[in-house]
Amino acid sequence: MSTFESRDHANEKHYVSTIVVVFGASGDLAHKKTFPALFQLFQAKLLPENFRIIGYARSLLERDVFVKKATSYIKAPADQVASFMEICEYMHGSYDNAEDFVKLRENIEAGEEKASSHKMERTSDNILKNRLRIYYMALPPSVFLPVSENVRKIVYNPEVENHLVVEKPFGFDQESSRVLNSQISKDWLEAEIFRTDHYLGKEMVKNIMALRFANTFYEAVWNKEHISNVQITFREPFGTEGRGGYFDQFGIIRDVMQNHLMQVLSILAMEQPASLNAEDVRDSKTAVLKCIPPIVLEETLLGQYTKSVDGTKPGYLDDDTVNKESNTPTFAEVAIHIDNDRWRGVPFIMKAAKAVDVAKVIVRIQFKDIEHSIIPKLARNELVIQISPEDKIYLKTIVKEPGLSSKLTLSDLNLSYSAVFDDSLIPEPYASLLLDVIGTDHSNFVRADELDEAWRIFTPILKRIENEKIVPLPYPYGSRGPEGESDFHIRFGHYKPR
Ligand code: NDP
Ligand code: BG6
Repeated sequence: MSTFESRDHANEKHYVSTIVVVFGASGDLAHKKTFPALFQLFQAKLLPENFRIIGYARSLLERDVFVKKATSYIKAPADQVASFMEICEYMHGSYDNAEDFVKLRENIEAGEEKASSHKMERTSDNILKNRLRIYYMALPPSVFLPVSENVRKIVYNPEVENHLVVEKPFGFDQESSRVLNSQISKDWLEAEIFRTDHYLGKEMVKNIMALRFANTFYEAVWNKEHISNVQITFREPFGTEGRGGYFDQFGIIRDVMQNHLMQVLSILAMEQPASLNAEDVRDSKTAVLKCIPPIVLEETLLGQYTKSVDGTKPGYLDDDTVNKESNTPTFAEVAIHIDNDRWRGVPFIMKAAKAVDVAKVIVRIQFKDIEHSIIPKLARNELVIQISPEDKIYLKTIVKEPGLSSKLTLSDLNLSYSAVFDDSLIPEPYASLLLDVIGTDHSNFVRADELDEAWRIFTPILKRIENEKIVPLPYPYGSRGPEGESDFHIRFGHYKPR
């Protein structure tokens, strides 16, 4: 199935029954993202018929408590929420006790039987193949393996379609990610695994391929002859509040760069895939990652936030769950070089920052100066793709200021989604990704080899930071970042008009 068609064809398989088991249903991801995303698909009537959701976790939750949790982030009329909850149930069970998984299997099978008894296809030989089971691991990485092993041993049915959805983090470095992958692939086929990176479900990230390969003029200049540098920037105005324990182990490079921003980079920089087929797309993404040498410390700026200047916001080390001596970066800016004919000499400057001044995720493609222009240099053209908070694309363009003077000015050719489209149609990334899981479309999921390449690029710098106890530069909560932040991209060729 292909990227741009999947949306319209997701339900073509006509499953007799589809069951999603949300492991960790009592947790944060489940109630903030998974249930709301499933609700969005339900509301848009995009779920196949006979669709059931089983929330599974260890907590003993009464039905009303589960309903309250699962719907706490859903904003919709009460009757719609109530009909959605009719297809949801909760089972409590452990993650390591075989008997609990037997009960889960029996529950799934009973649901499948009931669904297929309603259908004429029951007489068809193909009936089992028309059942889909999705095992969604909304679980901390420490329990992911035992659960996936128990599912494979006890719940899995080779005669139905089984999809395993795995959340980040996929490992801690290249070595641990390889170990994790080899353990999973003992039990599961790559075609059954959906490694989620929710950035691949974001509208603007999905749009990059359309922008590049459906428009003559962009692709024509998408190379080192015309582009000076590319910046991929993630800025968040809050710190690790409540997540310090997790974050202190992982840090900003593993939390945001190695996955979300690297996915954006690979789509921006890849060659045109042979087709829209998921494997062709992932081949292209992997191929460009293979051309990237590991990031070096000399081309890196690291920071860690301290108390805000007015003292109202805590510093990173003030968090009780964070090691007081921690050198974990909450800010990182790195230069990435792609050694191929398209990009040699064009730095990709990647920045990820927590507890800074604004919320913004943005790609800024800065074009080269015009050689021998008759017009004095004012600024450079930039194509800006804003991923959040607002979906927009604009092209910084030099025009003559209106009036009798011949003064030039830099203005924007602006495609703001809220002005041009009904932006209420933009789905939550998780809804879009879940629809792909249902439609067996892997285009927007991370393949094992792609993941391995991303870890190869980041593992040496992570090891240096940890082994050499590199001290990140301090920056106050709410500022732009540590000293040197404003010059880093200039060092890599970014031109900023004074
Ligand atoms: P939680 O810490 O909320 O854990 C989910 C559930 O797992 C808990 O409700 C709990 O359920 C069970 N659990 C928690 N800790 C343990 C443990 N040590 N041993 C066994 N079971 C445990 O995690 P999240 O929901 O925040 O995240 C789940 C996954 O999704 C993680 O891999 C995370 O990195 C990823 N993720 C999360 C995001 C988010 O917004 N939260 C965003 C992107 C990815 P019970 O005790 O009832 O069994
Ligand atoms: C998550 C990270 O994967 O992505 C968080 O763990 C980060 O630290 C989040 O805040 C950012 O996602 P979004 O969709 O809010 O840009």
